Amino acid sequence: MIRFENVTFGYSEKRPILDDLSFHIPKGDFVALIGANGAGKSTISRLTNGLLQPTKGHVFLNGKDTLKTPSSKLARDCGFLFQNPDRQICENTVKDEIAFSMKVQGWDEERIKERAKQVLDTFDLDPEWFPFSRSRGERQRIALASVLACEPGLLILDEPTTGLDYLECIRIMDYVTYLNREKGTTVLMVSHDMELVQSYARNVLVLNHGKILGQGPTGQMMKNVDVLKKARVLPAQIPELALRFGDEFKDVFTVEDMLDALRRKTQKGGTL
Ligand SMILES: Nc1ncnc2c1ncn2[C@@H]1O[C@H](COP(=O)(O)OP(=O)(O)O)[C@@H](O)[C@H]1O
Ligand SMILES: [Mg+2]
Repeated sequence: MIRFENVTFGYSEKRPILDDLSFHIPKGDFVALIGANGAGKSTISRLTNGLLQPTKGHVFLNGKDTLKTPSSKLARDCGFLFQNPDRQICENTVKDEIAFSMKVQGWDEERIKERAKQVLDTFDLDPEWFPFSRSRGERQRIALASVLACEPGLLILDEPTTGLDYLECIRIMDYVTYLNREKGTTVLMVSHDMELVQSYARNVLVLNHGKILGQGPTGQMMKNVDVLKKARVLPAQIPELALRFGDEFKDVFTVEDMLDALRRKTQKGGTL
């Protein structure tokens, strides 16, 4: 689905932000891209959808070289949710906002109407709302609804839960999980929130100073303290606690796992 081949990229001549970077994200995966501020995460997501182009090397989206494919064509395969919904929303009503990307992609009016209705229902949005007077969580939901209206095969989320409260966050992430599991949508989520990554991503890609430090299943990567430390990322608390408790807790990743493991341990009369 996404392939970076020896990609080098810099915003100016001086110092490349990404340096000879190669990785592959298969179709249907749910990958979190993690790393400290300034590591190059947003740059990678903008290279993936063709908003930026590599200085050296190639980026392939669904087999299409982003250097040779117009970004309007790439946009059909790839929905992109910006970190800040206000940089995305451009219409004065929710219904126009939802219809926007379908119009750009040349859908006919009947199909737009039908799909817009579905999307408004799914996201529980009022078509007549003025987006900019809604709450941050609602604006994020409007932006996501608009991105998903065209049913892209790949969804890129750049820090999707910034500024959302706990329930808004769960609502959005549960829907993204549903799309990934039931509709086969590939998800690339940029985040520095390890609790979010631990709860939702299947695999993790760790980035530091424009290089990949590690790639693997979420549980495994969350316990790779060396890699996380190097990337200046704080591990999620449960995996970190499990690591400190030792080998008997090696399969513990969630609060439920931890409770089970603690019960087993105390039933055996053990101490920590
Ligand atoms: N438009 C830009 N022009 C120049 N430098 C940029 C631009 N956007 C990002 N950078 C720089 O590129 C580096 C990586 O940024 P970014 O990809 O946004 O990192 P992250 O998303 O991991 O925080 C940072 O040093 C940042 O200052
Ligand atoms: Mg960023």
